[in-house]
Amino acid sequence: MLGKNSPTCHPELDEGSKNEIMRHFTSITQLGDLSKALEAAKYVKENPFADQELGRNKTLLMIFFNSSLRTRLSTQKAAMNLGMNVIVLDVNQGAWRLETERGVIMDSDRPEHLLEAIPVMGCYCDVIGVRAFAKFENKEDDYNEVIINQFIKYSGKPVFSMEAATRHPLQTFADLITIEEYKKVEKPKIVMTWAPHPKALPQAVPNSFAEGINMTDYEFVITHPRGYELDPAFTGRARIEYDQRKAFEGADFIYAKNWSAYSGDNYGKILCTDRDWTVDAEKMALTNNAYFMHCLPVRRNMIVTDEVIESPQSLVIPEAANRVVSAQTILKEILGGL
Ligand code: CP
Repeated sequence: MLGKNSPTCHPELDEGSKNEIMRHFTSITQLGDLSKALEAAKYVKENPFADQELGRNKTLLMIFFNSSLRTRLSTQKAAMNLGMNVIVLDVNQGAWRLETERGVIMDSDRPEHLLEAIPVMGCYCDVIGVRAFAKFENKEDDYNEVIINQFIKYSGKPVFSMEAATRHPLQTFADLITIEEYKKVEKPKIVMTWAPHPKALPQAVPNSFAEGINMTDYEFVITHPRGYELDPAFTGRARIEYDQRKAFEGADFIYAKNWSAYSGDNYGKILCTDRDWTVDAEKMALTNNAYFMHCLPVRRNMIVTDEVIESPQSLVIPEAANRVVSAQTILKEILGGL
């Protein structure tokens, strides 16, 4: 899917028909052929300003329902590299509070409905990025992605996820680019480990990472305490190992992340804060001199010790840097279809 119809894209990626061009991007699986996508990303990384004309007179509107550092800055930088104008809206700071439920009597402190706000936003831009985390109020609503899907339905513009309720595909693409750059063997062993955190976090990053690794032929192990099983629709072929130390044995990459419970009545709950699950040097010593990865922000000495995150094996900064490459590759593809 990637790389078609872009004026200056890598020649090898120019094959294919126009109707395959990406319009919306909400899941890493929409990349299609992963090796082509990684090749397209490599080209973008080596030629960051090659497509400045592609975004000329085009406006990206970035809408944040939740806080961000990396996604905000990297996506804006990616758009600027493509010559785009960028508008950023923090929905909860300075905008009218938005009602999201249809059919409610609007007598609360939310004076504007998303169903008017979305098409209005669509009038002011050419592409929309949306960050809207799981609310943990209703699992069905979260897993049906009601917020981002309303943007897709009502904005009239291409929409991409800057982390939605169940997935964070721009992060996953950056993770896959980073693994591709650092892997020492063709089929590395990737271990995604749960680690403790004081707040209930969504499953979007681990869901999406699992979805991405399942697009490769890498060995894939997920380790977490019992009760933290993710939706099998995302974990797919991953082997689940409840003994974290056993899971770490021979690993080439340790991908740490906290998530709250997914299953049943425990959805969105914290079941464990045991710091025996913190990634430390003793556990890293069980690995094949593995690289350490985390999407950031990270709680030091909860998720990972200072020693590990500051070690030469820590990839958290190159991983964050690749967020520009990830966003630019996707934006380039979307712009190619306008
Ligand atoms: N990894 C990530 O998405 O970071 P932000 O929440 O800061 O955007």
